[in-house]
Amino acid sequence: MKQFISVNDIPDINAIVKEALAYKADPFKDRTLGKDKRIGLLFLNPSMRTRLSTQIAAQNLGMEPIVFNVGSEGWALEFEEEAIMSGSKVEHVKDAAPIMGKYFDILCIRTFPSLQNRDDDYSELYIKQFIKYAGIPVVSLESATLHPLQSLTDIITITEVLQSHTSQTSNPKPKIVLTWAPHVKALPQCVANSFAQWVNAWGEADFTITHPEDYELDEQFSKGANIVYNQEEALKDADFVYVKNWSTYKDYGKIYCNDPEWMLNADKLSITSNAKVMHCLPVRRNVELSDEILDGANSIITQQASNRVWAAQAVLSRLLRQ
Ligand code: CP
Repeated sequence: MKQFISVNDIPDINAIVKEALAYKADPFKDRTLGKDKRIGLLFLNPSMRTRLSTQIAAQNLGMEPIVFNVGSEGWALEFEEEAIMSGSKVEHVKDAAPIMGKYFDILCIRTFPSLQNRDDDYSELYIKQFIKYAGIPVVSLESATLHPLQSLTDIITITEVLQSHTSQTSNPKPKIVLTWAPHVKALPQCVANSFAQWVNAWGEADFTITHPEDYELDEQFSKGANIVYNQEEALKDADFVYVKNWSTYKDYGKIYCNDPEWMLNADKLSITSNAKVMHCLPVRRNVELSDEILDGANSIITQQASNRVWAAQAVLSRLLRQ
């Protein structure tokens, strides 16, 4: 494996889930694998879980992590080829990335979409330019359209719950529902796209996506899922409910409906098959999810966030062994 930017870099999802859970059972079993290796974590945007879990994962493997908040502390980067740099951008990625390629053994990058121009965002220019010019393995810490470390974590968490003694799914395949939720601002489609891409590729679930009309995701990610506009109908018999807001894809980056009725609460949960509730965090309490759900017994959100370490460790481990 030379990069980790989507599920397409993982031909064997269940195998990497197993590797991640083995790290959870024994975090330091490969403590010298990354000895004398350095990993750069570049953030163009804020983060808590991704930043901390990837650093911990790297340290568990003996690597030295260096975090660079390039968005707030670095020179403003230009990504367009043949740009005439007479504006606010100070340094071109084709000059900066090769230097990072000399400083580090693995380079991890978080970028966000602008939500202004769909074609620009969906071209994934930022991460592709780092891959092109860094000359070392690149890991997405969330890109304009995808969040693969989050999605790997989500599959790990679902697998872990299914393997646990407390899980009792009556369905031949677990029913997973990704539900849109209200939010106060326009958010990227990354987490929803990525979750859909991974669950579809995994192929071990009965997968439904529910959202108000006009919030359809890009079909390259959602195709294969049942799309249901009625949330209550979608939630029937669900074993897992993944709650997430996203802005519109078709008329790009907009908030159309923001109906508070779409918030997941205890009444909605009662329609499910005692479903476990997931969210990538950060969450807007009592907007996306009610307190009673977040603080209740069905939430596996803390378990899910803690599993970010093992997902990152499994991915870094594969890159170190290449
Ligand atoms: N879920 C997630 O990526 O969290 P952070 O934005 O805090 O990294």
